[in-house]
Amino acid sequence: SKPLRLGIAGLGTVGVGVLHILRKQAAMLEARTGRPVVITAVSARSKAKDRGVNLSSYAWEDDPVALAKRDDVDVFVELMGGEDGPAKDATEAALALGKDVVTANKAMLAMHGQALAEAAEARGCVIKYEAAVAGGIPVIKALGEGLAGNEITRVMGVMNGSCNYILTRMEDAGLPYADVFAEADGLGYLEADPQLDVGGIDAAHKLAILSSLAFGTKVNFAGIELEGIERVSIEDIRAAADMGYKIKLLGVAQMTGRGLEQRMQPCLVPDTSPLGQLQGGTNMLVLEGDAVGQIVLRGAGAGAGPTASAVLSDICDIARGFRMPVFGQPANTLEAATPALSQRP
Ligand code: NAP
Ligand code: HSE
Repeated sequence: SKPLRLGIAGLGTVGVGVLHILRKQAAMLEARTGRPVVITAVSARSKAKDRGVNLSSYAWEDDPVALAKRDDVDVFVELMGGEDGPAKDATEAALALGKDVVTANKAMLAMHGQALAEAAEARGCVIKYEAAVAGGIPVIKALGEGLAGNEITRVMGVMNGSCNYILTRMEDAGLPYADVFAEADGLGYLEADPQLDVGGIDAAHKLAILSSLAFGTKVNFAGIELEGIERVSIEDIRAAADMGYKIKLLGVAQMTGRGLEQRMQPCLVPDTSPLGQLQGGTNMLVLEGDAVGQIVLRGAGAGAGPTASAVLSDICDIARGFRMPVFGQPANTLEAATPALSQRP
């Protein structure tokens, strides 16, 4: 049957991870989706860079927008990152042509997800983003599909592995924040702009996406009450431990009588709870629905394999013809009252 032809923009950690799975598992993916899933063209900043993969069988485009517009690309796979710029331009170009898009870009979605979802809806195509939240954990599928029969009452969790690494290392080694930050940076665990991690911004991007999906509201990053981990001291961690608690950068979203409440802050959690036990760079999502009760998802929130696994989930859905939008339906979103709590009357 007709192959699904992918154009992949971004050949870094995640892009190369996706390439590896598509090559290694081509037969399995075809058996599971009922059609060949092939890459026709790729794009990155540098054509000359050695990425440890042979790209000679794919067309090369310097410009991701040109890639998105190619006639031999059915699905545009955006793995460049960045809130604006080429990622957004190329995504918009693909959607304008009625092409489905798969992206891992939480920053772009947290800022422009609503407009992009509406553009997709207008053209009868979809933008899918399993990899944008919690890497390998299929939380978008869980919320958008698995829990479709539930009114979601609360979504919470640890959504940034780097912060969880820093906090657990401070606990385990008794080291101050500045020392562990420097160590994590040296090990390459932090984003190129570490403020995205330790300022809680990356985690808040993810929370904004989850809230929209869970509560059918417009994506509202600005409505998140946000505090990172920079002010968590080793004394705070010791005092929490004395009382039987751990400090975690916890995201919480719940619907209240005053609208959607979204918080991303360092919080005390009981050290015997699943969240309290979460070690190192791992993520954990706790989802609560009126019918299902509470479910807990735990796993790798980053890295080539886990993130590519999530990208492939979206690609396989499209190949199979499962093209339901996964954001709250744009035409029907609630104008939730979502100013940060601190700004409310
Ligand atoms: P990365 O390793 O920095 O790779 C980014 C890729 O995009 C590179 O190949 C780069 O080209 C290319 N690129 C950047 N600007 C470009 C431009 N203007 N035109 C064409 N190509 C451009 O990033 P990553 O870690 O793979 O992350 C990609 C996306 O996945 C981001 O949205 C990120 O937030 C998301 N994500 C990542 C992880 C993770 O574990 N890494 C987890 C979840 C989500 P060159 O290689 O030539 O420089
Ligand atoms: N910097 C992010 C984290 C990468 O540490 O969780 C995955 O989104």
